[in-house]
Amino acid sequence: MLANETAERTALVTGASRGIGAGIVRHLLDRGLRVAGTYRSGLENVKKLAAAYPKHVLPVRLDLARRETALSAIEEVRQQWGRLDSLVLNAAVWNGGKLAKIDPDAWWSVIETNLRSAAAIVRAAIPMLVEGESPSIVLVGSVVGDVGFAGDTAYASTKAAAVGFARSLAKELAPKGVRVNVLAPGFVDTDMTAAVPDASRHKIAAATLLGRFGTVDEIARAAVFLSEDATFCTGTVLVADGGWTL
Ligand SMILES: NC(=O)c1ccc[n+]([C@@H]2O[C@H](COP(=O)([O-])OP(=O)(O)OC[C@H]3O[C@@H](n4cnc5c(N)ncnc54)[C@H](OP(=O)(O)O)[C@@H]3O)[C@@H](O)[C@H]2O)c1
Repeated sequence: MLANETAERTALVTGASRGIGAGIVRHLLDRGLRVAGTYRSGLENVKKLAAAYPKHVLPVRLDLARRETALSAIEEVRQQWGRLDSLVLNAAVWNGGKLAKIDPDAWWSVIETNLRSAAAIVRAAIPMLVEGESPSIVLVGSVVGDVGFAGDTAYASTKAAAVGFARSLAKELAPKGVRVNVLAPGFVDTDMTAAVPDASRHKIAAATLLGRFGTVDEIARAAVFLSEDATFCTGTVLVADGGWTL
């Protein structure tokens, strides 16, 4: 039996209350995994998933800005299920503004929130992951970490850092059998992009080879591929951007 067909295979997905994270949770559940889904303000949404998949969804509180919640989230999984095979670091904050104008504290807060929490969650999860079956870490990055975007110096810095972080971690954890990969989406229809003005939206879609934004399901499937199927991939970046960066 493949690892991903066992009833106990367990994942933790951050930012599970909506958008791409909620999509990843649904696809992992469809693959038969148990999933701890983190929320900050969206407990009700994760509870709805838990109601649809009783005993397979564990809502866990996580605030990226509060490092202690990273430790308690992992501890909750350990106490409830005692096992973790797949970690998907999806939650992130976006706070745009050109560097000359953005408040320096707001700029730094994006860096701290997105980056420090990732390190804290992974560090806390390592002891369970190394005991897991076909263990995997997926970091949800972004193509803007590679090609940049005006107004995104802070956010794009964290997404570029995710790649260096993942590749170094891949080297550290390969001897323990843990794969570490990055999924780099392009523009996807979620709350995060809801504020993009129509004119910019049309320009971005026109500059994308496939002529449109991606859907949550398309990105979730790519994340599940890295987590569950890509057993010979580590330290890699999977771009899912409809050809926007070509
Ligand atoms: N949408 C895009 O076009 C796009 C493109 C490239 C990469 N990405 C990346 O994909 C990932 C998901 O994006 P999305 O578009 O699905 O975002 P979204 O719709 O804005 O959802 C964000 C999720 O992250 C959680 N979250 C936000 N701030 C948090 C904090 N301080 N602490 C803990 N959780 C927090 C939210 O939880 P609550 O609802 O509970 O507050 C929510 O579940 C992010 O890493 C993003 O950078 C998105």
